Amino acid sequence: MTSVDMNYLTIALPKGKLFKPATDMLAQLGYSAEDLSENSRKLVITNEDAKLRFIITKTSDLPTYVEYGAADIGVIGKDVLVEDKRDVYELIDLGFGFCRMVVAVPRHLQREKLSDYAHMRVATKYPVIAEQFFRDKGVQVEFIKLNGSIELAPMVGLSELIVDLVETGRTLKENNLVEIASVLPTTARLIANRVSFKMKFERIHQLTAGLKQQMEGRVVK
Ligand code: PRP
Repeated sequence: MTSVDMNYLTIALPKGKLFKPATDMLAQLGYSAEDLSENSRKLVITNEDAKLRFIITKTSDLPTYVEYGAADIGVIGKDVLVEDKRDVYELIDLGFGFCRMVVAVPRHLQREKLSDYAHMRVATKYPVIAEQFFRDKGVQVEFIKLNGSIELAPMVGLSELIVDLVETGRTLKENNLVEIASVLPTTARLIANRVSFKMKFERIHQLTAGLKQQMEGRVVK
């Protein structure tokens, strides 16, 4: 199944930190639409002249829209792709949205090595990645799935540890948490629906090539 109309290219964009850099990058190549804004009440925004459609989704849902062909392509963090394991093509690393997924702990609970945290609780939005990480390290812990503001969990005794994304490090610092292990580096990726990639190859290829050239510092129009 592909995005409803063969004449349109449907691009999924996630709300949140990746929205602005993604739309800026696409706009430089002429992929934009009037009223395309993160705060728009309209969730489907069309550029009739360019035969483009943008849909704005919740970050964690974006790969689902692309997998089922409700969007042909989308921009999403590698963290979400690894966690969600959707059946989509990962086309290119867009080189923005750089974050690190880390294990962190309140400073006063800091121990010497990872195995010293055995049987403690880990709060995270990324239970699949976190579980894999601790399994690989041979450390048994308990996971608590949360949907946001993960740093709150150890402050109120919900968990001892967290696995979360760090960008500037400010949130960890302000909540007196210290990083004790690195789990996964992540950046924004361009993904495509498998059928769309074949059916709309020319359009998707043209966009991908433009984005690559843009990243190499050449302006393409
Ligand atoms: C992310 C992440 C951290 C914060 C890290 O949260 O989960 O909380 O950003 O950024 P920093 O290192 O620059 O401080 P986000 O703002 O996406 O919201 P969330 O807490 O609801 O997941």
